[in-house]
Amino acid sequence: MEGFAGKVAAVTGAGSGIGQALALELARSGASLAISDVNLEGLAETEERLKAIGAQVKSDRLDVTEREAFQLYADQVKEHFGKVNQIYNNAGIAFTGDVDITAFKDIERVMDIDFWGVVNGTKAFIPHLIASGDGHIVNVSSLFGLMAIPGQAAYNSAKFAVRGFTEALRQEMVLNREPVKVTSVHPGGIKTAIARNGLTAEGVDPGAQSKVFDKRLASTTPQRAAEIILDGVRKNKARVLVGQDAVVLDLIVRITGSGYQRLFAPVIGRIKPPSR
Ligand SMILES: NC(=O)c1ccc[n+]([C@@H]2O[C@H](COP(=O)([O-])OP(=O)(O)OC[C@H]3O[C@@H](n4cnc5c(N)ncnc54)[C@H](O)[C@@H]3O)[C@@H](O)[C@H]2O)c1
Repeated sequence: MEGFAGKVAAVTGAGSGIGQALALELARSGASLAISDVNLEGLAETEERLKAIGAQVKSDRLDVTEREAFQLYADQVKEHFGKVNQIYNNAGIAFTGDVDITAFKDIERVMDIDFWGVVNGTKAFIPHLIASGDGHIVNVSSLFGLMAIPGQAAYNSAKFAVRGFTEALRQEMVLNREPVKVTSVHPGGIKTAIARNGLTAEGVDPGAQSKVFDKRLASTTPQRAAEIILDGVRKNKARVLVGQDAVVLDLIVRITGSGYQRLFAPVIGRIKPPSR
């Protein structure tokens, strides 16, 4: 895979799943990598694999909810490599629970990581991306940033917010003639640890949720997801749909408008374990 030789890319949540696959694919295409995660074991594995490819790597513990640390980190990445071209705001968590039984603190936690983590990363890196003269912000939303389903209100809120933030930002960069491209990424079910690591409202069985996700919903490998995302980045796409499930469901949502809710609720009710 070509196209990123000489570029410096920062990837959050790079210790697992899509983030790890993105880092590896970027390295194979010639980029230097700044990888971060709170999962230090996974991060060390990614670092080792990047070095085996021969990539330049800077590896750091970074919690994307810690705004000041994120800002310092972006400055350090710039200092280390001399420039930064791309930020992949990928770190995220899953959460399942109906609204009436979900604690405020759980909704806030999901927003903190899945939405504010993206805002923190975007704002920390944007001055450096502008200064690079060839920047790209890649924000990972979800298929659930395009359609909502029962049991996912917190996650849907964060992912819809990421989409709105990213789509406005893309237009701003164009209008302001800044040299920064912006892409919103919407994966369907990807075979990662996300559901196994996911949180649930009290009383909701996390094991049952992840079993259904792993067996029935996750269909695309992280490597394939990374290839699709980087293809979209290379083509400067505004929106990247990852996986056939995302492509088909996005189409149904666009055709039916709000009608998709009536179509999907009974189907989801049949395949998903209870979220209350
Ligand atoms: N797997 C899917 O089906 C799927 C679908 C749509 C969207 N996504 C999104 O893709 C992104 C990557 O998810 P994944 O599937 O690779 O999951 P994953 O659990 O395999 O990887 C996510 C990584 O993010 C890290 N992380 C979590 N909280 C963090 C924090 N506060 N600060 C820094 N790092 C943190 C985790 O430690 C983990 O290494 C997430 O934003 C997720 O919402 C995934």
